[in-house]
Amino acid sequence: MAASPVTPQRDSWATRAGFILAAVGSAVGLGNMWRFPYVASEGGGAAFVALYLAIVAVVGIPLMTAEFVVGRLTQQSPLVAVRRLGGRRWAPLGWLFILGGFGILSYYSVIAGWTMRYAFDAVRNAIPSDTSGYFNEVSSGLDAVFLHLLFMAVTIWIVVQGVRKGLERSVLVMMPVLFLLLIGLAIWAKTLDGGDPGYGYYLRPDLGALLRPGILAAAAGQAFYSLSLGMGALMTYASYLRSKENLAREATVVALSDFGVAFVAGLVVFPVIFAFDLFDTVSESSIGTLFIALPKGFEILGRTGDFVDTAFFVLLFLAALSSAISLLEVVVTAIIDRWGWRRGRAALVAGGAITLLGIPSALDLAVLGAIDQISGNFLLLVGGLGIAFFVGWRIFPQADAELAQGLRSPRLRWVWGALVRFVAPVVLVAVLVSAWPATWAAVRTLLGLE
Ligand code: TRP
Repeated sequence: MAASPVTPQRDSWATRAGFILAAVGSAVGLGNMWRFPYVASEGGGAAFVALYLAIVAVVGIPLMTAEFVVGRLTQQSPLVAVRRLGGRRWAPLGWLFILGGFGILSYYSVIAGWTMRYAFDAVRNAIPSDTSGYFNEVSSGLDAVFLHLLFMAVTIWIVVQGVRKGLERSVLVMMPVLFLLLIGLAIWAKTLDGGDPGYGYYLRPDLGALLRPGILAAAAGQAFYSLSLGMGALMTYASYLRSKENLAREATVVALSDFGVAFVAGLVVFPVIFAFDLFDTVSESSIGTLFIALPKGFEILGRTGDFVDTAFFVLLFLAALSSAISLLEVVVTAIIDRWGWRRGRAALVAGGAITLLGIPSALDLAVLGAIDQISGNFLLLVGGLGIAFFVGWRIFPQADAELAQGLRSPRLRWVWGALVRFVAPVVLVAVLVSAWPATWAAVRTLLGLE
């Protein structure tokens, strides 16, 4: 087996804030900004928000804690960690994480590339009034490929610098800027004439919606995606943790921050849609809301809009970048810990391969959507189920002992154990079953396109 758990050269976080902000940076991303507001308003407003929070508490925080525990316990990439602790039979779980990192980042970077172009044009004041024509131009053909390459280059560049110098330093700047921009935008949205009904639309408690089939799956899928769970991203981050903090508390802080950002994003998006009467432009896909409807609204504002759209797209870009970093880091740490490559080489090769894999998504939105469905809504849940069984059944005593370093209360650890061992698997199996038809359809789309 590989070297001793803590090799002296292995990088680590310099501060607790660095680790937490990096984990929040991974969690807060495009999923918060466009997916949550949309899913919540469709799924029953405040009633959905309550259901979502319940799932975060009962499944999300316990599994995030489980990921943290394995990472800190082994001080190794998840690929190495599951194999070392679980033996041969568990090796495929590690590979599933790598596959998830490849799959998600390949298309995530395409959307992130658009945000770069929007931010750039917003600064130069060059977003045209025909926002849907503009969106089509940005999101297709060579333009889209070029933006994807550029975004991957930035991501690789940060990851090459390492955990302390690259990741930690960049999130310490990016995340506070992101929070400030978001709060500023929410306050600004409150001042809009005619925006108030937007809050009602977003949050009207529709208890009936909770009875619809698939609502649990929608909430759980959203929670997994938004919290970056199920593919070892947060496990990888925790493997660079040396101090014995209370990991359950850290997970709670990260999950609640992620929820806070998603919730506030809705407080920006919906008043704007109502104030400028943008319902017609809001397409089914919710991508339309962000990239077509909102710039239209900002345009109506004239001068103020010039400033606001810059803030908005810079915010999206930062959120996407800090998530992309974590996705690439999963693969890079695996290569370093498993094969002993230097970081620079690992980041270039892995990042290059992911970039190539993303080109079809840049050229065709149907491919992008299919890969999103398969990796985002399915692989993550399979990975989450694997983590629940691994931590809850295969290595439970060891995991519990690691958690005890920082979380003394036996009662709280008992609750955690029950949630990871029993509740999470049951919820995840139910969700996987209901996510299967859409996943199978996506697989067929991909095969049909080849
Ligand atoms: N959580 C991110 C978002 O909300 C996406 C993401 C980043 C992710 N890293 C991940 C999802 C790891 C799953 C696993 O946009």
